[in-house]
Amino acid sequence: MLRFLVLVLCGVPGVRALDNGLAMTPTMGWLHWERFVCNLDCQEEPDSCISEQLFMQMADLMVSDGWKDSGYTYLCIDDCWMAPERDSKGRLQADPQRFPGGIRRLANYVHSKGLKLGIYADVGNKTCEGFPGSFGYYDIDAQTFADWEVDLLKFDGCFCDMEHLVYGYKYMSLALNRTGRSIVYSCEWPFYLWPYYKPNYTEIRQYCNHWRNFADISDSWQSVKSTLDWTSSNQDKIVDFAGPGGWNDPDMLVIGNFGLSWDQQVTQMALWAIMAAPLFMSNDLRHISPQAKALLQDKDVIAIKKDVLGKQGYRLRKEDNVEVWERPLSNLAWAVAMINVLEIGGPRSYSIPVASLGRGVACNPACLITQLLPVKRKVGVYQWTSSLKMRINPTGTVLLRIEETSYL
Ligand SMILES: *[C@@H]1O[C@H](CO)[C@@H](O)[C@H](O)[C@H]1NC(C)=O
Ligand SMILES: *[C@@H]1O[C@H](CO)[C@@H](O)[C@H](O)[C@H]1NC(C)=O
Ligand SMILES: *[C@@H]1O[C@H](CO)[C@@H](O)[C@H](O)[C@H]1NC(C)=O
Repeated sequence: MLRFLVLVLCGVPGVRALDNGLAMTPTMGWLHWERFVCNLDCQEEPDSCISEQLFMQMADLMVSDGWKDSGYTYLCIDDCWMAPERDSKGRLQADPQRFPGGIRRLANYVHSKGLKLGIYADVGNKTCEGFPGSFGYYDIDAQTFADWEVDLLKFDGCFCDMEHLVYGYKYMSLALNRTGRSIVYSCEWPFYLWPYYKPNYTEIRQYCNHWRNFADISDSWQSVKSTLDWTSSNQDKIVDFAGPGGWNDPDMLVIGNFGLSWDQQVTQMALWAIMAAPLFMSNDLRHISPQAKALLQDKDVIAIKKDVLGKQGYRLRKEDNVEVWERPLSNLAWAVAMINVLEIGGPRSYSIPVASLGRGVACNPACLITQLLPVKRKVGVYQWTSSLKMRINPTGTVLLRIEETSYL
């Protein structure tokens, strides 16, 4: 017990979060990028080009198919929504062919469904796809987004020299604040700094609600795996900075697309919960398997992600091609994920002394273990001296919830 208290006291980020009252738990929603990228061709591909129709259809489905009720409330536009030029007053404008009603009307529609609208811009001279950047226009753009009643800004970092990047991210945060509208501020600040120097996360947390550290995710196991590898190799530098109001962002959930096997989708869902990550799905809600939908809407896993203690998990150990991750939860509970990273063979058994989980206190003197993924089942009550044996599919994960029996 004493050890636990010491851990909690030392682990609390002594770091102030951006003071806008938002993202007290990691933001959840849908973001178009990974699935729809920069498809501008509404003639050939009317159903998958970046257009107001796409977002209105997703908004309808987010409500009718239970996504909103599961917590996915932010419907977010990524790059490629803009017209190639600003208007005569220097304001950004939506592409008039693809967004004939404009962003304000789209925001009204999204709000009428009880959802929130996210938009995208860039700190530099151009967006990554070459649309107008916000450099030199930070105040105008912040005010434009507020006038449109936008609820989240993803601010990218392409076409920005190192001299202006940190300044620009900070400036935009203050400009958004000055509009008086509550807007979640999603940054890529550390990702663009890492090639040059170690970002100052104390500062990033003061200005951003979440921040990307690593490259864009794509629809492949290789990409999910490299995101996990980056996170575990850098966990000493980033984990303590996550907490209510500010989160490390490992990028979108690609569950429900083409590239991940079922076991790999389970791994992404489980580990994004362990990492206290914002959950932005990028998939096609019009065409998604019931299995992927059930995984994304899993209440028990979402409850871990939203746990009020608000502490990010970390990789505890890697041995024999099994990675064990754990995350402290409220009420002295823990989430534990075991990934079989061996990409050959079949399901493998892995044993671990329960005394080594949860910093030695999770099962002291005993604990109740429930498996949440890949399927929910009671595992049983374990004594501190016992060991836990799990069978894990290649590239799959077993996600457990561990509760101290003395607390139940
Ligand atoms: C702006 O910042 C102040 C001071 O940090 C804070 O009290 C206020 O709630 C913020 N306003 C918005 C709209 O974020
Ligand atoms: C934008 O381009 C101008 C002109 O080339 C340059 O002076 C400025 O530093 C650039 N801004 C950023 C943020 O890179
Ligand atoms: C990081 O930023 C904080 C807040 O602005 C500042 O107090 C601190 O000195 C900075 N740390 C480094 C290493 O520059």
